[in-house]
Amino acid sequence: MLKNNDFSDVTLGRRTIRVYNEDVKIPREEMLEMIQKATRAPSSLNLQPWRFVVVDSVEGKAKLRPLVRWNTRQNDTSSAMILIFGDLQCYEYGEEIYDKAVEEGKMSKQERDEQLAEIIPQYKSFNKEKMKKAVRLDSNLAAMQFMLIARSHGYDTNPIGGFEYDQLAEAFDLDKERYVPVLILSVGKAAETVEETVRLDAERFTTFK
Ligand SMILES: Cc1cc2nc3c(=O)[nH]c(=O)nc-3n(C[C@H](O)[C@H](O)[C@H](O)COP(=O)(O)O)c2cc1C
Repeated sequence: MLKNNDFSDVTLGRRTIRVYNEDVKIPREEMLEMIQKATRAPSSLNLQPWRFVVVDSVEGKAKLRPLVRWNTRQNDTSSAMILIFGDLQCYEYGEEIYDKAVEEGKMSKQERDEQLAEIIPQYKSFNKEKMKKAVRLDSNLAAMQFMLIARSHGYDTNPIGGFEYDQLAEAFDLDKERYVPVLILSVGKAAETVEETVRLDAERFTTFK
């Protein structure tokens, strides 16, 4: 399903696309494959706090529509809207992640025990604001990676920050105290071509010391 392996084209050719071919549906199997690849992104202590809700049904899109403010075209035409949340209790997955590393021979049992004994109490001690910052940071890295993976599969995306933050989790049956919304990505087959947007020169915002 990999359609484009040209690194420059995938990364530098990415544009925000807001109108998609409505006839193109991304199969759920391919969606999972893309999410799997996106989550090769790094995360703090490898705790992988990103959570994805793929809204690809008519009912789901109808529920999402009033929550995406001026971004309804992307909702109406995309193959899917991917809601990315950060899990404030991601440390609950710590054992599962580190056990898998042991099973796959990537870590010794002793390393697993030592690292978990340090990591889990540390994460649990974070206050909510610190946790939010940590899980958002990691989840945004996965979001960026998803946008590039989607390009390599022949699709385009729009990162969407314009949505009702306080309503998103509950509308999709998630505990809003636990799951913080990070970003929505629309994804699908582009039905528009857009100009490259400008960037300032690197010299304008880079210092060397
Ligand atoms: C965090 C974030 C939030 C954004 N929110 C929206 C949005 O709500 N609606 C929209 O149409 N584009 C949104 N964008 C897309 C930006 O407008 C776009 O990335 C920028 O203009 C640069 O264009 P490019 O992505 O084609 O390089 C968002 C981008 C980011 C990174």
